[in-house]
Order: sequence, then C-alpha cells, then structure tokens
Amino acid sequence: MTPYQSLDRSVAGKTVLITGAASGMGRATAHLFAREGANVMATDMNGDGVAAVAAEIKEAGFANVASIALDVSDHDAIKASVAATVEQFGGLDILINNAGFARLAHPSEEAYEEIWEDSVAVMLTAHQRLIRAALPHLMKTETGGRIVNIASTEGLGATPLNGPYVAVKHGVIGLTRAMAVDLGRDGITCNAICPGPIDTAINASIPDDHKVIYAKRRVPLRRYGIPEEVANITLSCCLPAASYLNGAIIPVDGGMSIKNA
Ligand code: NAI
Repeated sequence: MTPYQSLDRSVAGKTVLITGAASGMGRATAHLFAREGANVMATDMNGDGVAAVAAEIKEAGFANVASIALDVSDHDAIKASVAATVEQFGGLDILINNAGFARLAHPSEEAYEEIWEDSVAVMLTAHQRLIRAALPHLMKTETGGRIVNIASTEGLGATPLNGPYVAVKHGVIGLTRAMAVDLGRDGITCNAICPGPIDTAINASIPDDHKVIYAKRRVPLRRYGIPEEVANITLSCCLPAASYLNGAIIPVDGGMSIKNA
C-alpha cells in the first residue's frame, strides 16, 4: 500500500487580497485568514470602514493585516491595489472576490438600466479584472494560487425583482468555471461559494421578523447564516490541501437550494 500522504491544512504565511472587507462576509473572511496566520490585504470602497476592520484585527493580536481603499469598478485602482499588496507582503497567493451590493427593481422601472450596469461592473467585470491583475503573482505561488468568487444562491435560481443581481451571479459561476479550465494548468484553482441568506448589512433593510419567517419556510436549518459560516468554507477552498478542488460551485445556504417544499 502507498503510505498515507498528509496534506498541508494551513494558510499561514500566504498572502490574501479580499474585496468588500469592510463589512459582512468580507470582514469575517479577513478576520479568519489573519487568525490562521495569513497576510491579509483588506480592501473596500469604504476606506475608513476597511481601515477600522484592519485595526480591530490588529487589536485582536494579529499584526499581518493592511487595508486599502478600493472601489472595484475602478480598473486602475485594481491594478494599484494588487501592486500595493505585492509590495507590502512580497507576493499574492489567494484572491477573494467578495464585494457586492443588492438593489431590487422590476424590469419596467427606469432605474433597472443603471442597476444593471453597476451590478455588472462591481460583481462581474471587476472579478475578471482582479483575477487578471493577480494572475502573474498567483502563478508564482509554490503551493498553487487560489481564487474564490463569492456568488450567491441567486446564481443557481432567481428571486423576483432581482434581475441584474441574478444575472451577474449566474455570470460569476460561468466565470469561475472558465477560470478553473483556463488556469488549472498553472496550478491555480478557482471555485465559487453560493451563500444563502446570511445576516449582513446587505439585507439590513429586511425586518427581523420577516427574516425569521423566510428562514423557517425556505431553509432546512430554519435560520439565517452568519458571515463566519461562509468565511470558513472560503478558507477551506484556499488550503494547500484543497489542491484538487477546482471549478466547484459550493452552496453555503443551510440546505436552501436543495429544498423543494
Ligand atoms: P455587506 O453589505 O455586509 O458587505 C459588502 C461590502 O462590499 C461592503 O463593505 C461594501 O462597501 C463593499 N462594496 C460594495 N460595492 C463595492 C465596490 N464597488 N468596490 C468595493 N467594495 C464594494 O454584504 P455581504 O452580505 O457581506 O456581501 C458580500 C458578498 O456576498 C456580496 O458579493 C454579496 O452579493 C454576496 N452574497 C450575500 C448574501 C447575503 O445574504 N448576505 C447572499 C449571497 C451572496
């Protein structure tokens, strides 16, 4: 028998760039990677917010974190942020495309066009730009570059009045599969997480009692998730030991996407 091979389950010393890290899942992901010993570049269009997140991580005793203001709809700023990450930490091993927003509209509404354009820019075009900017560095990573795109269960189905978001999240899944196929030969993996309902600022306008009713009706676990429950699956996709996970679309939704009735 071949001897059992123990694979590396640590991101210690790896460098990760996270978008949308001032809040919600991005913030939780920044905390978790820092706690696991990674160098964290936390980015967000909310520069003050992401600086505050970096400060709270440092206060918790994890020094290898920096922050930078990055609006992912700005192509030049993407390139500059990747360069700043490499300058600060000496490389870039892991990219987490997480930044996003939600705005509902019916196709008959005037605002639909603008929401569509913003959604494509922030939650789809930005992902490929970040991937392409990070690529030369991901290729140099000894244990294999890692990309995780945060899609949504809206990439697997559709909720009414959410057309632009549904379209771009389906696009994120397509991009993930395309990158998995194109970058696999360079030892880089690309996977997508599809969170279900997670308690973050993105859905803060939904009243709590509506959330409870919705979760009991739709989610087998009968509750919203918390950002840390997604961050831990994101981290798992980035371990050196996750070396054969590529092009996977992973629901983290309490079972919502497989529940028929
Ligand atoms: P959140 O609102 O707590 O955090 C989103 C962050 O993205 C904010 O800090 C915001 O400033 C940032 N952001 C927005 N536009 C940006 C831009 N142009 N450039 C840079 N940063 C920008 O929301 P949450 O829930 O943590 O969202 C993270 C990701 O998870 C998003 O892609 C969202 O679509 C996705 N998601 C969220 C779900 C949920 O129920 N919370 C469910 C499924 C997917």
